[in-house]
Amino acid sequence: MDLTSEGDTLCLNRDAPWDSFDSQSYTQHNYSVLRSDDEEIIKVVRDYFSDHFRTKSERPVSGIDVGAGANLYPALSLLPWCEQITLYERSARNAAWLRNQIPRYDDSWDPFWEVLRKEEKYQDITDPRERFRRSVTVEEGDLFQLPDRLRKQEVGTMFFVAESLSNSHREFEGAVAAFLGSLAHGAPFAAAFMENSGGYWVGDDLFPACEVDSTKVGAGLEPHAAVDVLERFGLPEGPVREGYTGMILACGRRGPS
Ligand SMILES: C[S@@+](CC[C@H](N)C(=O)[O-])C[C@H]1O[C@@H](n2cnc3c(N)ncnc32)[C@H](O)[C@@H]1O
Repeated sequence: MDLTSEGDTLCLNRDAPWDSFDSQSYTQHNYSVLRSDDEEIIKVVRDYFSDHFRTKSERPVSGIDVGAGANLYPALSLLPWCEQITLYERSARNAAWLRNQIPRYDDSWDPFWEVLRKEEKYQDITDPRERFRRSVTVEEGDLFQLPDRLRKQEVGTMFFVAESLSNSHREFEGAVAAFLGSLAHGAPFAAAFMENSGGYWVGDDLFPACEVDSTKVGAGLEPHAAVDVLERFGLPEGPVREGYTGMILACGRRGPS
């Protein structure tokens, strides 16, 4: 029997029932209303990308959201900067949910867009649904086997994925490395992590998680990136579910530093 460093039985990424992931239940539970912790995270990501691209040419770039699942706010944070956005996702059910959002994403995402719209470049987009429809493609695939053609993305996000895909620290570090491997040198990114997550229920299925804190997140990123922001967010409204202690956001640039 294989064990994690905490002595738990290993549940690797390939062992979890990704294709049963109940996208509707997940998005309803986590994102049907805008929580204050997500709002704080969105503000930091918005300002980080805005500051980064303010000094760059206006050339539109390609972007990626890795493990997009049933959450659109990371992709929305990429809208002003990208002509093309790939939502890369392993679960067939989540990929189908994402494809269904392309023609007209649900009204529940409007409050998330309103937070982004406080910055100028987001305000310049008069019809975010039209821009989303035009820019976004969904691709089903495993981040551990990212195709070469997706390895030079110029901006990227990965939210609640690396620590929420198995309970193996080795896979956590591998997922962080794979995400950063999708980016061109110097490309900015935002990545978010559940702190000390012990696993999570989605509908009737339990999914594995690996317990990380800011130190482990920083150590996972450091070989591959220059980290500009590493911030922990507490739970002012209480947890969205049981079994974690906060959220961690990292913003930086593909390195090494
Ligand atoms: C906790 S959910 C996070 C979803 C979303 N990014 C969010 O912010 O709520 C974890 C996501 O990672 C995806 N995932 C798990 N293993 C993956 C892999 N090997 N490659 C790509 N995506 C994966 C799952 O299908 C799921 O959508």
